Amino acid sequence: MDVALSDPSLKEGSKANFPAMRILSGIKPSGEIHFGNYLGMLKPMIESQSRGELLCFIANLHGLTSVMGGAQMAAWTRQMAIDILALGMDPERSVFWIQSDVAEVTELAWYLSNFTPVGLLERCHAYKDAVAHGKSPNHGLFAYPVLMAADIVGFGVNKVPVGKDQKQHVEVARDLVDSFNSRYGEIFVKPDPEIDSDVATVQGLDGQKMSKSYGNTVGIFAEPSEVKKKIMAIATDSTPLEEPKDPEANPVFAWYKQVAYFEPYRKRREDISQDKDGLRSILAKGAERARAILAPTLDQVRHVVGIRWHELV
Ligand code: ADP
Ligand code: TRP
Repeated sequence: MDVALSDPSLKEGSKANFPAMRILSGIKPSGEIHFGNYLGMLKPMIESQSRGELLCFIANLHGLTSVMGGAQMAAWTRQMAIDILALGMDPERSVFWIQSDVAEVTELAWYLSNFTPVGLLERCHAYKDAVAHGKSPNHGLFAYPVLMAADIVGFGVNKVPVGKDQKQHVEVARDLVDSFNSRYGEIFVKPDPEIDSDVATVQGLDGQKMSKSYGNTVGIFAEPSEVKKKIMAIATDSTPLEEPKDPEANPVFAWYKQVAYFEPYRKRREDISQDKDGLRSILAKGAERARAILAPTLDQVRHVVGIRWHELV
């Protein structure tokens, strides 16, 4: 018996309850925020608060693929939450939480796993790149896009602002929506990745993509003197001995100027850090709101796959 077709309420689906535009994105707490993260993802995401309902979380469960050590993970999770608030996340208007505080997404990921061909995951560039850079592949790394799909489709999201490198993961989520919905009815909304086309991949100090894993980043909250030192080191390394060293002539000198511009955010960041209880309460409220958004969709999924068996027999 096809359960979905036997329950007419499911054909309408929970889609009807969703607002006109729901935007969601997440970021791993895997280090300090650099200009690539900021321009490629955080800035557009924070700006999106003016055109729809924004859901944003710190993806600490995803972060486990790269952060080893509880103390480090805890410190980066806290700092990332503070930084995003300092940059303009409004926790009243938007829903802001720590991914693991709504651990039901891992349950949803398990249901989706059964709709995920292994070949689809094997084709993911992020996975292939990590392995090519010497990372030993474990199941967490391999199944990463399935958890990411659960993050997205569990919340009935229309738009997912991400940097270019995450586009394929959103496409995996779209594929899983098709497979699941064609089996069980219109339960999930199909999300669109939103890539800010004005922002190309931001280059790091060495000319490669700026990335924590390449050690070539400029942190947006870095002390200007620290950035200047990094830039001077490059200028010195790449200028022939006989030529005068002119850091201003180096294209990365632009970063130095940007960092100075972040001064007001740095001040807010300090204020938020001081208020420990305030931060915890913001995140606890966010998790509660996120759980309430996820619950009806997750319940529907449990129902159609037969986990809530007593409703069916
Ligand atoms: P990293 O590569 O430093 O580990 P993440 O993978 O945590 O960064 O990326 C967080 C977000 O920032 C993602 O949406 C990603 O697409 C975006 N992003 C990261 N690096 C860049 C970059 N160099 N240019 C543009 N966007 C970036
Ligand atoms: N994988 C994303 C990154 O590395 C983080 C992330 C986790 C995410 N879940 C998400 C982004 C859901 C958008 C939507 O940047």
